[in-house]
Amino acid sequence: MKFSTLFLAGSSLLSAAVVQAHGDTIVPRSEIQRRDQLARRCASAAGAFNAKRMAKRSTPTERQATTAPEEETHYKSIQNETCVMTPEVIMGPYVWPKSQMMRTDMSEDQPGVPLTLDIGVLDMATCEPLQNAMVSLWHCNATGDYSSFEQLDENLTFQELKDKLGLTNVTYGVTDLHTDNTTWLRGMYPTNKEGMMEMKTIFPGFYAGRAIHIHTQVFTHWTLLPNGTMRSGDLVNTGQLYFDEDLTQTIMALEPYARHTQIQRTGNDVDKFIGGSMEGGYSPFVAVEPLDGPGGDVAKGMVGYITLGVDTANLSRPPNYIEPDSPYEKK
Ligand SMILES: *[C@@H]1O[C@H](CO)[C@@H](O)[C@H](O)[C@H]1NC(C)=O
Ligand SMILES: *[C@@H]1O[C@H](CO)[C@@H](O)[C@H](O)[C@H]1NC(C)=O
Ligand SMILES: *[C@@H]1O[C@H](CO)[C@@H](O)[C@H](O)[C@H]1NC(C)=O
Ligand SMILES: *[C@@H]1O[C@H](CO)[C@@H](O)[C@H](O)[C@H]1NC(C)=O
Ligand SMILES: *[C@@H]1O[C@H](CO)[C@@H](O)[C@H](O)[C@H]1NC(C)=O
Ligand SMILES: *[C@@H]1O[C@H](CO)[C@@H](O)[C@H](O)[C@H]1NC(C)=O
Ligand SMILES: *[C@@H]1O[C@H](CO)[C@@H](O)[C@H](O)[C@H]1NC(C)=O
Repeated sequence: MKFSTLFLAGSSLLSAAVVQAHGDTIVPRSEIQRRDQLARRCASAAGAFNAKRMAKRSTPTERQATTAPEEETHYKSIQNETCVMTPEVIMGPYVWPKSQMMRTDMSEDQPGVPLTLDIGVLDMATCEPLQNAMVSLWHCNATGDYSSFEQLDENLTFQELKDKLGLTNVTYGVTDLHTDNTTWLRGMYPTNKEGMMEMKTIFPGFYAGRAIHIHTQVFTHWTLLPNGTMRSGDLVNTGQLYFDEDLTQTIMALEPYARHTQIQRTGNDVDKFIGGSMEGGYSPFVAVEPLDGPGGDVAKGMVGYITLGVDTANLSRPPNYIEPDSPYEKK
């Protein structure tokens, strides 16, 4: 689905950081530079944070495989970049908070290569890990479908889909496009005292018009409702996570991904949302290691590490999380 033609109706929600050019949404250089500057300031903290999480996971008690000394070195060389998230609400048409569930495994019955996301959240104001931040994740399955939107055709661009459905005015998170109540590949969990959370899922597939990505939102203020969904009174950062092209090619050659032949996959190089990455600064790319250890086989499963930077000095409040009867609406 083509996100490029879609915008939030409330123009005040769109800052200058997202511009429209010939129908495409792009992240301008200046915005990437802003995130890069924030990330650079916290680079050594982010590097230490990543190394700590990786070292912990690579100990024999945490993982079946034993770790040889040179393999430990491999982990220590890890990146000091941070995916600085933005207060803009680039959450796409498939955000659906009603299907978000607090859990540490959101794969349900979806076939695909197992992916364990090891996510650290860093407060960009202090460069310190941020605890009790709710990290919400959602992505499509191995052949491009989103849960809760199963009936929407993953092989159509969003413009084609809108034309087909006769939709003229779509607002992300407000216009109700959901077709069912399935919840697979949607999940959320708060960060622990060390500022990290873990989510088991599968490597995502692709749909029309977008590079392979995982949506993420981080909430610094939230309440869990009795039915397991979350209400956030305010303050959210939104982002999307990506994977290296080489890794993607390896995974897309495997079943069930390989059967999605009707449309061509959009590469990272042409996706309008990625905005590139910078050495030692901003990067939205997940660092992946095989689950069975360095030198292992990613096709058997992988661990993906990423540090999300929350710009706590610059947060926003998306309209979709607030319902009219919400007791948390006005704090
Ligand atoms: C807040 O973020 C927006 C874009 O994400 C940016 O344009 C703006 O300069 C930021 N404000 C501050 C105070 O950092
Ligand atoms: C959960 O409860 C809230 C508050 O009562 C309600 O608005 C929401 O629709 C419920 N979600 C589901 C999936 O039942
Ligand atoms: C992805 O979800 C759709 C909709 O439920 C389903 O038809 C399809 O089989 C799923 N893909 C795989 C690989 O299971
Ligand atoms: C589009 O939808 C938004 C919110 O759903 C509404 O505020 C706006 O008036 C609508 N615009 C048009 C042209 O219908
Ligand atoms: C989703 O679940 C709600 C409450 O359980 C129900 O009222 C609604 O009809 C369901 N929606 C669909 C599309 O199945
Ligand atoms: C999308 O294309 C795949 C083949 O690549 C096909 O299996 C699937 O049914 C198509 N989806 C729809 C909704 O037609
Ligand atoms: C971050 O890593 C890059 C590449 O390894 C390095 O050049 C840079 O000095 C590091 N920055 C900090 C602050 O550690």
